[in-house]
Amino acid sequence: MAQHNKFHYKTLEELKKEIEELHLNISISQDISIFKTPVKVGKKEAPNALAVLPMEGCDSNADGSPSDLVKRRYTRFAEGGAGLLWWEANAVEEAGRANPNQMMLTDENLLSFQRLLEEVNERASKIHENHTQPLHILQLTHSGRYSRPKGHKPAPVIPQRDPYLDPRSGVNDETPIVTDEYLDSLIDKYVHSALLAKKAGFNGVDIKACHRYLVSELLASHTREGKYGGSYENRSRFLLDIIRSVKEAVGEDFIVACRFNVFDAHPYPYGFGEDKENFWKFDETEPLQLVRDMCSSGVELLSNSAGNPYYIYPQVTRPFDTSSLGIPVPEEHQLKSIERLFEFTRKIQKAAGDVPVVGNGYTWLRQYIPYVGAANLKDHSCSFIGLGRSSFAYPEAPRDILEKGFMDSARCCITCSKCTQIMRDHGMTGCVIKDKEIYMEKYREARAEASAREV
Ligand SMILES: Cc1cc2nc3c(=O)[nH]c(=O)nc-3n(C[C@H](O)[C@H](O)[C@H](O)COP(=O)(O)O)c2cc1C
Repeated sequence: MAQHNKFHYKTLEELKKEIEELHLNISISQDISIFKTPVKVGKKEAPNALAVLPMEGCDSNADGSPSDLVKRRYTRFAEGGAGLLWWEANAVEEAGRANPNQMMLTDENLLSFQRLLEEVNERASKIHENHTQPLHILQLTHSGRYSRPKGHKPAPVIPQRDPYLDPRSGVNDETPIVTDEYLDSLIDKYVHSALLAKKAGFNGVDIKACHRYLVSELLASHTREGKYGGSYENRSRFLLDIIRSVKEAVGEDFIVACRFNVFDAHPYPYGFGEDKENFWKFDETEPLQLVRDMCSSGVELLSNSAGNPYYIYPQVTRPFDTSSLGIPVPEEHQLKSIERLFEFTRKIQKAAGDVPVVGNGYTWLRQYIPYVGAANLKDHSCSFIGLGRSSFAYPEAPRDILEKGFMDSARCCITCSKCTQIMRDHGMTGCVIKDKEIYMEKYREARAEASAREV
């Protein structure tokens, strides 16, 4: 197997050569005009095929409302020109917040979100042709076993026991497994948050089911008893019930989306989308069934992700050059991890038919993102190219791709994992390297505080 290797390509030809030598199914197209084609999402349209993926800053105010840093992030994204802004994880209840500064839209702070969306749209309309605006999707989440609503102490909310994750997520013998009644009561909270999002001016909501937060873990709850565990029908029930309930409440003119894990890379019986004997082997049966079930339940936009960013294989979610502290160097080449993510998107897009799918895993490719992305759009492997860490480092990348026809290599994310490290250290995150005036200091502070806590 080819080794994990730092990004070193001086030309597109060098990248092409490596892809060929590794026999990978990654295509390249030098005609990147396809990004300018608007993309239909339900009854709405995004002005182009570039999307900002949800990127949490862990920097909202204590009441969940947007802080100055949140405002800065989204106005920068808006001015960056992407056709779709997929807003970060927004908790549906206090107990499900991943940190005390996670975004949380409530009746009390609705006005602050309305104002921010107005501001963001005004900025965006200045840079888009015909003053069009991007589509705004708000990601609704419950952090499940990764909940930490107060201070530094984990407050895990678990749907099942997991011998691999329990010791790493603050779960002990006393931690209760959540009841079906508790899960039932959460459905109304998703509906309420979705209605608030509609009032605030979002175009849709995402029922987040990725990265092993609550809904994602339920998809893998083979060992759970009762109506939300065991069989595929039971494990998908919570997600599908939320989707149907939200769709019914918000009506036709509002998008219900889902960002979900296609593959957990986690041993059976605790993972989703994988072979029971070999958890590194993808089994498409349930993920593709889930796509069909979601689409027939009213989902109009999908984004597939994979892996568990809190566990020891974060390359499955986001290929990188340097890992965050304590994470082993992956045993595979980054291009192999990228090929895997592309393969998932291709399969999901095929199963989803006309429902657009946002592809991910592009940031590591730096200035060559447009050429790989254009090839994937052309052969209908996905409908949007989603940018995660790249959007922190280089928010204007979509505009450069659309207007100049290239990305500036000096501004690209170097996948150093420092944004992740800040998150792990319980700080407020952004790009430490390309936005260093703000985030270098935050990185140092969070690191020093985390080290002190460890001592
Ligand atoms: C600091 C940080 C915050 C993130 N926040 C979210 C989030 O709120 N919701 C989500 O679905 N994914 C989140 N992600 C994952 C990204 O959206 C994306 O899937 C991942 O970084 C891979 O895409 P990329 O290679 O373009 O970065 C986050 C990733 C990082 C590094």
